[in-house]
Amino acid sequence: MTGPIGVFDSGLGGLTVAGELMRRLPNEKIVYFADSAHVPYGERPLHEIEEFALGITQFLLGCGAKVVIMACNMSSAVALDAARAAFPQVPILGMIEPGSRAAVSNGGSVVGVLATTGTVKSGAYSRTILALDPRIKVIEQPCPAFVPLVESGMTDSEEAEIAARSCVGPLISGGADTLVLGCTHYPFLRPMIERAAPEATIVDPAEETVRALAKILKDTSAEASENKPGEHRFFTSGDAEGFARLGSRLLGREIPRVEHAQWGRDLSLPEQMRTNKG
Ligand code: DGL
Repeated sequence: MTGPIGVFDSGLGGLTVAGELMRRLPNEKIVYFADSAHVPYGERPLHEIEEFALGITQFLLGCGAKVVIMACNMSSAVALDAARAAFPQVPILGMIEPGSRAAVSNGGSVVGVLATTGTVKSGAYSRTILALDPRIKVIEQPCPAFVPLVESGMTDSEEAEIAARSCVGPLISGGADTLVLGCTHYPFLRPMIERAAPEATIVDPAEETVRALAKILKDTSAEASENKPGEHRFFTSGDAEGFARLGSRLLGREIPRVEHAQWGRDLSLPEQMRTNKG
């Protein structure tokens, strides 16, 4: 199949998933949507996140996506079922289920989940992990400072070091042996989180999500048919130049062009989708 893999997030965080895709499935094309106009999602009402997720999924399908990854734990926590019901024509993957599977397979007894306030409020990680293994103790910790630090490029700062220590501390005191990076922005702060929890196993749900995607593509014979590196497109609802600059640094490879885009909120009107190049 020739269509791209649609990937979206509130901003830069989903690049941790896009990066994993580029490494594992280098021939696949990616179309990435960053909802930078609305970042951070973490403190927003859950119904709003669902509305954004449906609009963006529709936008990605309009770009020809053959599959969509919600590279945003918050969207995955509150909008995955609604998106699957609204768009049954393509597989849609979230982060919570693969992340929970990876955490459980680590074999620990206490799983600490670092996530945004909204994801913690949804209880999605606790529910999913306990459904897989009810003997595990799950502790969820909101880290509202992390996303703004990543979005402002302060990943190597003293502020990030302090925020990591204060979020990880309660999980370690609670006995966590496994830490899930339950927001796609957080792998950009991984060195700080590791320093704050040197004994714990860190789980990045992106790895298991991309493994699950690779299996779906194989099972449905939807793998990229061309044997050459995939070409990618990047869209943002916010500042295209800023996204290109910071995104290139965080992704570790140049994002040469970012297009500004908006989407129609009325799901019955796909023609409302507009993209303005530039
Ligand atoms: N990166 C997203 C997540 O995985 C959302 C972060 C935010 O905008 O608060 O939850």
